[in-house]
Amino acid sequence: MKKIDIVLGLQWGDEGKGKITDFLAPTYGVVARGNGGPNAGHMIKVPVNKSLDELFPLHTVPSGIFGSGLNHIGAGVVTCVSSLRLEIEGGNDKKGVSYFQPNWKNQLNIAGESVLILPIHKALDGIFDKMLGIGTTKKGIGPAYADLCYRNAILVRDIKKPGFKKKVENVTDFYKKNFWIAETIDNSKFFEDARWLVDSLEVVSSSIYINDMLEKGHSVLAEGAQGTFLDNRFGTYPFVTSSSCISGGVLTGLGVGPGSIGNVYGIFKAYCTRVGNGPMPGELNNDVGDKIAEIGREFGSTTGRPRRPAWLDLVALKYACRINGVTHPIMTKGDVFDDPFFETISVTDNYILPNGSKTNQFISDAELLGKVKPEYTEFKAWDDLGKTTIAHSVHPYLRNYLSHIETAINLKVSMISNGPGREQIISL
Ligand code: IMP
Ligand code: MG
Repeated sequence: MKKIDIVLGLQWGDEGKGKITDFLAPTYGVVARGNGGPNAGHMIKVPVNKSLDELFPLHTVPSGIFGSGLNHIGAGVVTCVSSLRLEIEGGNDKKGVSYFQPNWKNQLNIAGESVLILPIHKALDGIFDKMLGIGTTKKGIGPAYADLCYRNAILVRDIKKPGFKKKVENVTDFYKKNFWIAETIDNSKFFEDARWLVDSLEVVSSSIYINDMLEKGHSVLAEGAQGTFLDNRFGTYPFVTSSSCISGGVLTGLGVGPGSIGNVYGIFKAYCTRVGNGPMPGELNNDVGDKIAEIGREFGSTTGRPRRPAWLDLVALKYACRINGVTHPIMTKGDVFDDPFFETISVTDNYILPNGSKTNQFISDAELLGKVKPEYTEFKAWDDLGKTTIAHSVHPYLRNYLSHIETAINLKVSMISNGPGREQIISL
């Protein structure tokens, strides 16, 4: 029986999971998404032709789609049929080009258990966010997951059933009436795209499909979305997303048992970023943060919002490695510090609490986390990671940085990514 390996984010999302998945995918039979929805934005570099490479954003489709294996949109994903159709037909590309291979229908299927994001969910997302101030992506993620908990959700498997349209209109009317929504909610495009979905993709049961594949000897890669600190239980609640972004979420999102899990690839950047609101120790509201954002191109790939940079937080990283059972930590974007602007860089080793005491344990209470002061260690920055190709020529200053991280998390960093290209990965 083959195993499921997991790629997930150890920070607030945008760690470079898409690139790592795209890199690892060729060795797997199936790449599967088990959480989140079109709030995710996985930028991957697709070889379009021999001379040109383009960065392409994936939101719902697993990052294995440009390879030769199979891809599964799992039960734990909330599906926006219109966004998914646009993604496949090329609407996400500036030039409207679709890079999907002609046989994409044979390479992708979807779980019947996946919750549909309805047009009314997007309206509700706006209403709730006005009150809560989380700064969501406004894709209707929270209200769609809430409907699952209310036992009111409409699933992908319902699309083909006779009462589907009526059910959608009833849910829409229910919310319109009880939330005094005056805005017109037109479901006609949604119905058209929902039909397109079931005409285009095979609808399967997540748990049966994935377990059958494992039994038949195909390895599976579960691609996480968002990141550990956006997990709806263990992240910085309430400034989180509405799904489980940790490795436990793979079990419930794909319907597999804990014994099926193999390697857990935990991705972290050499610094932190967060998009939307909520606390993040070590935040750099200054020219250093601006420079990181500029060189690291830290703008949300789903909403285009600027990401907020911070120094790497080792208190948080240790918590993330433990909660996810990480076996292979992978650091990305260390090449950002190649720029001569960065003579020294810092990491957070401890938090100083408002009462003056010190802790090296993460604080998930967002209110208290917002009040801690980081205790930093400073490192000399390197200048050549972008040009480095093999482990033994990694700059000694970067070696120092890595060994400090390794001591804190009690794990060896297994790879570093030093650019957006598929080949820009150094195994350590
Ligand atoms: P939601 O997932 O749209 O409800 O947004 C909740 C919070 O998670 C907001 O702060 C978003 O900015 C953040 N978020 C959601 N998806 C992503 C992602 O893929 N990367 C980074 N942040 C995300
Ligand atoms: Mg992203």
